[in-house]
Amino acid sequence: MVPGMTDNTFVNHPPEVLVPADNRPLVAPIYQSVKFSFDDAGETMSFFRGERPGFYYSRSSNPTLRQLELTLARMQGREDCLLVGSGVATLAATLLSLCRQGDHILAFVESYGPTRYIVQQLLARYGVAHTLLSIEDLAGIESVLERTPTRLVVFESPTNPVTKIADIAHLTSHARRTGCLTVMDNTFAGFHNHGGFDVDVFLHSLTKYASGHGDVMGGAIIADRSLIEAMRKDLVAMGPTLDPHAAFLIQRGMRTYFLRYERECANALEVARFLHGHARVRRVFHPGLETHPQHLLAKRQMKDFGSIVSFELDGGIDAGNRFAEALNLFSITSSVGSTESLVMPPQLLGGQAFTPAQRAASLIGPGTVRLSIGIEEARDLIADLTQALEAAFV
Ligand SMILES: Cc1ncc(COP(=O)(O)O)c(C=O)c1O
Repeated sequence: MVPGMTDNTFVNHPPEVLVPADNRPLVAPIYQSVKFSFDDAGETMSFFRGERPGFYYSRSSNPTLRQLELTLARMQGREDCLLVGSGVATLAATLLSLCRQGDHILAFVESYGPTRYIVQQLLARYGVAHTLLSIEDLAGIESVLERTPTRLVVFESPTNPVTKIADIAHLTSHARRTGCLTVMDNTFAGFHNHGGFDVDVFLHSLTKYASGHGDVMGGAIIADRSLIEAMRKDLVAMGPTLDPHAAFLIQRGMRTYFLRYERECANALEVARFLHGHARVRRVFHPGLETHPQHLLAKRQMKDFGSIVSFELDGGIDAGNRFAEALNLFSITSSVGSTESLVMPPQLLGGQAFTPAQRAASLIGPGTVRLSIGIEEARDLIADLTQALEAAFV
């Protein structure tokens, strides 16, 4: 306290309230502070030289973000994590940071739309070439990795919206042998899946299962320490960091991550089985169904089968849209992994810029509907689906 300071000065230098070291809050506070200060320039320089712990500026590090980084790194079975403001920011930042002009990337038709945009449009502008295959084309993957020096392969499993399963061991073994990095968007499968595979970088949209309540956006890049250190350097200069308040909400969401995910998976399997037996449904896509072409691969690779159920409805786009509009418990919107159930009708899934061959590989048909199953009672969801299916065909 500076003697004689005016109230105007005082409110800009408020009193410090220190919590004793043996008197801990059970929930860590939100460090909603951009700056952290040491007592003198010498200590500040010693921090910059890496000789002492601490924080300085929240674009590069912040205690609330650090708690979440440590939580997510352990959950995914890797050494370190870097947080950014959204799921797509993980994709843009990772690919920009790991690639240079003249590199070649292997990506897939079934990848999330913005991932394909980053590879096909954005990185192409910077002289990064790519090959786009189907995730099911194992021979093609082998041939590209053997014949074309490839910086990285970026993939997902299960894929969106038709839940194809990538053969992860096949991909990673060929990539490792040819010196190619593997980047896996693991958003749909979650942090508790795939950590045992030889994947170099895991990406997650924290907007989905991590936060879980549809009220905050974020993204996590998870890898070994050396890769994260190198990427952190680039990202501090690019500036896509997560806000501490968002990190706090995501950390809170993680407390119920397993409860929510388990319930959503159990509900999804019930919904998939119900749809599979319905006369108006041509085909159901859910890796937990024995009829899914990659059910056994999914069973080997995953602890559960996720909360996404897609299906091809008789009657194409019009019936699909009528069905989605007749639902009461499922909102028509994007995103997945919320506590409430969501639906994407064919009209919203159909806007992808595919060649006819790519469209065929995508398995997205005129009547494809995607459901993201929430934590509600399964029998209420099935009753709602039943009435909406009836309404779609009156
Ligand atoms: C597989 C996958 N990756 C990344 C994202 C992007 O996440 P965000 O919306 O947090 O940018 C999404 C969003 O739907 C997604 O489905």
